[in-house]
Amino acid sequence: MNLGAIYFSMEIIHTIGILQPYINECKARQLQVGFVPTMGALHEGHLSLIRQSLKENDITVCSIFVNPTQFNNTNDLANYPRTIASDIQLLEKEGCAVVFIPNENEIYPSVSFKTLSIDLQDLDKNMEGKYRPGHFTGMVTVVKRLFEIVQPHKAYFGKKDYQQLKIIQFMVSYFKLPIQIIACETLREPNGLAMSSRNTRLSAEQRKNAEVIYRALLNAKQNFFTLSITQLKNRITEEINSCKDFKVEYVEIADANSLKPIIDNEKINAMAFVACFAGEVRLIDNIHLS
Ligand code: PAJ
Repeated sequence: MNLGAIYFSMEIIHTIGILQPYINECKARQLQVGFVPTMGALHEGHLSLIRQSLKENDITVCSIFVNPTQFNNTNDLANYPRTIASDIQLLEKEGCAVVFIPNENEIYPSVSFKTLSIDLQDLDKNMEGKYRPGHFTGMVTVVKRLFEIVQPHKAYFGKKDYQQLKIIQFMVSYFKLPIQIIACETLREPNGLAMSSRNTRLSAEQRKNAEVIYRALLNAKQNFFTLSITQLKNRITEEINSCKDFKVEYVEIADANSLKPIIDNEKINAMAFVACFAGEVRLIDNIHLS
C-alpha cells in the first residue's frame, strides 16, 4: 500500500515515545520509510526533497528541529527564521505522513549528552568547517541522533549544502548505518539564487543582487580550463565583492569527493564553493566545474 498516494491527515509528533511505535508499525507492514531532516522555514528546495521522498517511499517523515549545537554564532541562531504553522501546512499539502517536531530535551536528553566523536577524514577542514568552527560536529551529531530515532530506509539531502552531504555520507558508511543517502539537486530562484531559509532575511535589493553569486560560479565554470585556479578564485571573489552590500568570506575550488583544494594540473572532478555575506545574511552556494 502506498500511503503517500492517498489523502490522509498528517501526524504531528513531538516525542520519540510516539514516533517510534508509529515507525515500527510502518516497518512491520513492510512500508518503505523516507526521511527529510530540516530546520524548518520550508521553501521549494526543502519541498523538492519531500517530493522525491514521496515518489520513492511509502511514507515520508520530515523533521523540523533548529539544532542549537550546529550554530557557531548566537545571533544566527536567534535570527534563524521560524515559521512552524506554515511549514506544517506545506508538508500536509504535499502528502507528508509525519512531521516530527521535537524540543531540545527530546534530542539532547541530558546535559551530559555527548557530541559525536568521529574523525571526518579532513572533510570538515576547509570551507564551512573552517569558517564555522564546531558546526559540523553539531550537525553530524544531530543527524545521527535523528537517524537512530527515525530509522528510515532512505534519507534526502540537498547538494546546496554539499560539504554537509559528504560528511553525512561518510558518517553513514563509518557507522555502517543501513540508510541510503539520496543527494538532491539545488533548487534556485528564477535569478539563480540558491533557495535558502535565510533568503527571507534579505532586503528586496539584496535578493535581486544575489544573482551575482550563481553568475560568478557559472562564469568560473565557463573559464575553468583556460584560467588558473588562483585566477578563477580571484574572479569569483571580485565579481561578488563588486556588488553593493556583498562580501566574500571564502572561495574554494576543491575535489568533489575529498573536498581537498585542487591544483592547476588536476582539473578533474572539481567544484567551486563560495560563502559570502549580503549585509548581515550569510549565503553559500557551489557548482560542479568539471
Ligand atoms: P536545512 O537548512 O533546513 O536544510 C534541510 C535540507 O534541505 C538539507 O539537506 C539542505 O541541503 C536542503 N536544501 C536547502 N536548500 C536547498 C535548495 N535550495 N535546494 C535543494 N535542497 C536544499 O541542512 C540543514 O537544515 C541541517 O543542517 C540539518 C541537516 C537538518 C541538520 O540539522
